[in-house]
Amino acid sequence: MRLENVPLTDIAARFGTPCYVYSSATLTAAFESYREALSGREHLICYAVKANPNLAILSLFARLGAGFDIVSGGELARVIKAGGDPGKVIFSGVGKTSEEMALALTSGIRCFNIESASELTRLNGVAATRGVRAPIAFRVNPDVDAKTHPYISTGLATSKFGIPFEAALPLYRQASTLANIEIIGIDCHIGSQLLDPAPAAEAASRVKWLVETLEKEGITLSHIDVGGGLGIRYRDESVPSVADYLAPILSELADRPERLIVEPGRSLVGDAGGLLTRVITLKHSPAKNFAVVDAAMNDLARPALYDAWHDILPVMPRAAEVPVHSYDIVGPICESGDFLGHDRALALMEGDLLLIRSAGAYGMSMSSNYNSRPRAAEVMVDADSVRLIRAREPVESLYALEFP
Ligand code: LLP
Repeated sequence: MRLENVPLTDIAARFGTPCYVYSSATLTAAFESYREALSGREHLICYAVKANPNLAILSLFARLGAGFDIVSGGELARVIKAGGDPGKVIFSGVGKTSEEMALALTSGIRCFNIESASELTRLNGVAATRGVRAPIAFRVNPDVDAKTHPYISTGLATSKFGIPFEAALPLYRQASTLANIEIIGIDCHIGSQLLDPAPAAEAASRVKWLVETLEKEGITLSHIDVGGGLGIRYRDESVPSVADYLAPILSELADRPERLIVEPGRSLVGDAGGLLTRVITLKHSPAKNFAVVDAAMNDLARPALYDAWHDILPVMPRAAEVPVHSYDIVGPICESGDFLGHDRALALMEGDLLLIRSAGAYGMSMSSNYNSRPRAAEVMVDADSVRLIRAREPVESLYALEFP
């Protein structure tokens, strides 16, 4: 099995396992599919950094012209370090601290997506002390059901995200009176791993109504941000193409002159990455067969956290004499929740390499050091070449900031 032109066995031999592997061709193709789908109108593609914040990935997208959707000062620092343009950064999130606001203002970001009245007042204050005006959009909660996993659904009235739809107009009016606030846009994001374009189009239609109502009151905007959320195929889901997903949104907003912003994360990086892991032990009990591998829930939390499915494939399929068993693929962590896949029919021997697919998004970015496990290495493949983009953590770094 190869990634682009490079055998995965070579990568494992050179960099060890567990190891995240990414294809720069797939990353580039995903970005281009957004660019093409949006080519008919003025737009900005703001990659949601949280999906995968590795500097090499940020710098690849920056070179392709991307902007960035950030949710912390740490993500802003990464974007700048990677050569991203702060003027193309939008700052989302329900809990921006005053320090983060100040850093973002100093860096000259494009827009703050404001999620509450209190945040608006505080940002106005932070901007006032610096003698500047803060560019803002309100993140409006359109109260549509994104029909996705409850943990990653964000557009319902009961969710902690965004401004309730009815509160949006009064807040825009209030913001227009604040000396250190400059209203420039509107934003919504209804959830993640969305497979149906209809809820996002419905959200766009509600947002459009707000934009038109504001315009009548003399509040004009320069952009409409429709968020991210497009899903990828993990198992057998049918997933719309980027163009098909965006088409109803684009047609909803066809007569609006504002620039369109999108905030995709998963659909830009998810398919491009996999997690390479090696079987440590095969363990057969009367009730179950386990393949204990060297990756675990600290490396890829999605199965444990969301019961998410990731395909798991042998890198070198075994000959017919190795029996196929139904295996639970589990990590070495001391929790029964530490699994990467249940009931996978595989012919395995100890030492075999496995590839856990579609792990480019929310894989490494949600990893931890639980059980004092150093984080995996990350590698970027580009045609025939392989480059280490994050070294495996040395064990000493796990306690370097501690004081015995
Ligand atoms: N914009 C905002 C404001 C967001 O909160 C998110 C994701 C995105 C954009 C990007 O959404 P995407 O295009 O990636 O769906 N850890 C979960 C996903 C959490 C998504 C959080 N917000 C998972 O592994 O499925």
